[in-house]
Amino acid sequence: MTSQPPARRTVLRGAALAGAAGLGVAACDGGAGGSKVPPTPTAPVDLGAPGDVPVGGTKLYREDRVVVTRLAKGEYKAFGAVCTHAGCVVSSVEDERIRCSCHGSEFDAKTGKVLAGPAVAPLPSVPVRTEGGRLIVGPEA
Ligand code: FES
Repeated sequence: MTSQPPARRTVLRGAALAGAAGLGVAACDGGAGGSKVPPTPTAPVDLGAPGDVPVGGTKLYREDRVVVTRLAKGEYKAFGAVCTHAGCVVSSVEDERIRCSCHGSEFDAKTGKVLAGPAVAPLPSVPVRTEGGRLIVGPEA
C-alpha cells in the first residue's frame, strides 16, 4: 500500500476540524497544566479571509483558540487564546484589550502582555501569515 502525503488543503481542513472538535466548548479547564489540548495550534489553521480582521483591529477566533491583531495592512500578530491564568479561552476583545471573563485577566491585543491579573504570563505568540489569499496561523505544514 502506498502512502501519499495529504494535500495541503486536506491538512488545513483537518487541523481546523481538529481544533473545532477539541475546543467547541471553551470552558476553563481549571489549571494551566491540566489541559490535554495544546495552548496554541500545532498545525496550520486556515482562519479565512485576511480582511475579516480590519486594519487596527483584533478578532477572536474562539473555536480555533487564537486572537489575531492586524497592526497595519499585511502586518499581523497572533496569540494563543487560552488564558495563562487557569486555562479558560478568552472571551472578548474591547479597546485593544483581550479579556478573560473567568477571573478578569486582560491582555494587550498588540503584544499579548498582561494588563490586568490574576494572570501573570503573557498570551503566547503564534506564527501568522497570509497564503493564497487566506489567513493562516500555526506552524508551517
Ligand atoms: S482563567 Fe482566570 S483570568 Fe483567565
